[in-house]
Amino acid sequence: MRFLTKKINDMKSDTIICFIFENETKKSDLFEHLNKLSNNELEKQIYEYKLIKGSFQETFKYAINNELKVIITGLGKKENLTRQKFSQAIASAARIAKTTSKNQSIAFEIIEKNENCSCDSFSKAECAQMLFTSARIGVYEFNKYISNKKSQIEIIEAIDDNITQDIEQKATIGAYSSFAMKFAKDLINESAQIVTPKYVASLANNIAKEHKLEAKIFSKNEIKEFGMNAFLAVSQGSVNEPKFVHLTYKPKTTPRKKIALIGKGITFDAGGLNIKPATSMLTMKCDMSGSASVLGIIQAISKLQADIELHVICALCENMTSGSAYKQGDVLTAMNGKTIEVDNTDAEGRLTLADALCYADMLDVDEVIDIATLTGAVIVALGHNITGVMGNNQKQIDKFKQIAALSGENVWQMPILEELKDNLKSEIADMKNTGGRNAGTSTAAWFLSNFTKSKSWLHLDIAGTAYLDKSNKETLSGPTGVMIRSLINYLLS
Ligand code: BES
Ligand code: MN
Ligand code: ZN
Repeated sequence: MRFLTKKINDMKSDTIICFIFENETKKSDLFEHLNKLSNNELEKQIYEYKLIKGSFQETFKYAINNELKVIITGLGKKENLTRQKFSQAIASAARIAKTTSKNQSIAFEIIEKNENCSCDSFSKAECAQMLFTSARIGVYEFNKYISNKKSQIEIIEAIDDNITQDIEQKATIGAYSSFAMKFAKDLINESAQIVTPKYVASLANNIAKEHKLEAKIFSKNEIKEFGMNAFLAVSQGSVNEPKFVHLTYKPKTTPRKKIALIGKGITFDAGGLNIKPATSMLTMKCDMSGSASVLGIIQAISKLQADIELHVICALCENMTSGSAYKQGDVLTAMNGKTIEVDNTDAEGRLTLADALCYADMLDVDEVIDIATLTGAVIVALGHNITGVMGNNQKQIDKFKQIAALSGENVWQMPILEELKDNLKSEIADMKNTGGRNAGTSTAAWFLSNFTKSKSWLHLDIAGTAYLDKSNKETLSGPTGVMIRSLINYLLS
């Protein structure tokens, strides 16, 4: 797919999306242009016959000379439009446009919204960025295994007669963010049968070659030599051996900051001997969403030639049942020497992440961030549209929360308090890997905090948000690519 910023006269799309706010009559240059082509019919239909009022996600379709299709999309009252609602409106408009476009190209007008609070207003440049990410999400489809493939959108145009450098720059971030999201969504959608640790590792190797990144890929014996026994234990029930991936992007000049980004990489989570019930296991190919995300993000960061050093780390394995699987009651020694009593083999993510966090401590980085489909408890707490954010540095958490909001994504902080320690008390080891049902998300995060020395460690629990059984307002069911936009914006900030 291509993402282009264009002037009105260079627009090639046969389907054009314009926005209107409720109770507002301000018309954009693009609207005036289309109105002229329609002999003022467009204006009449909207403002005289009032065929659309402009309430949120209300749409009105109008064809000009049977070739141009105009989709007017309502954004509701101006003061009520958040970036998130705007993203939803873009995505659903894109989905409608997909069904009407004949030349596989759709155009959006670039708008701006000026309000007092920076969170609720956005510039034309920020609009262009949102257009490219949300429209891409809107038209995304995984059709590899569909026999009768529908025609797909190939080009998304963002239209304004004054394409400034600022617009160009933010639009480029939007375009690469949506490439990263598409990459992650495709990888998560693919069968776990194909997406094994070895497969992801060789994909990472190809990414490294294409983007000239440093690549370190460790196999089982090297993982053993590192002393990553918690990670190794999770992997041992599978015929597919574990892989540990470490990619590094370095800017041409001295990096402004150095960040390690860890993605949970369980390519299938059957639960281990504490096997999951069938309904819970159904979507567990999504348990490598964290890895898919960070592998997408490093490609975007490299394309954008960001001035930061970025380390991407994936501890990849399957969590399976078999005669060689790790067992309840096993005591494991993680890479930092801390011991863990296995209370539940289905709490495997934190075991693999523990060793990945220890590994990140060997790198000289300013911040460590992990993104993981870690706990079912986060779904109980926050549902499917809010990501849990935790960490040990409130400044970093606050900054991330702000950037996520500006990126149109929902996050909510959960506490990590010393109180939680008792949940994981073990009689024979330093800690157990699970406590009771209570405070599951925070307890998992407290567990992880034992394995990082970083003073700026941020943890994103995307178990509820990475993969949807039911479509939400922006994304259809399936993988979402959640937090990719926010993380890219965070890394660039
Ligand atoms: N991968 C799951 C968490 C998950 C649940 C992801 C639902 C996506 C959707 C994780 O490995 C897991 O099984 N967690 C257990 C932990 C429990 C045994 C303490 C859970 O949440 O049930
Ligand atoms: Mn599990
Ligand atoms: Zn898992």
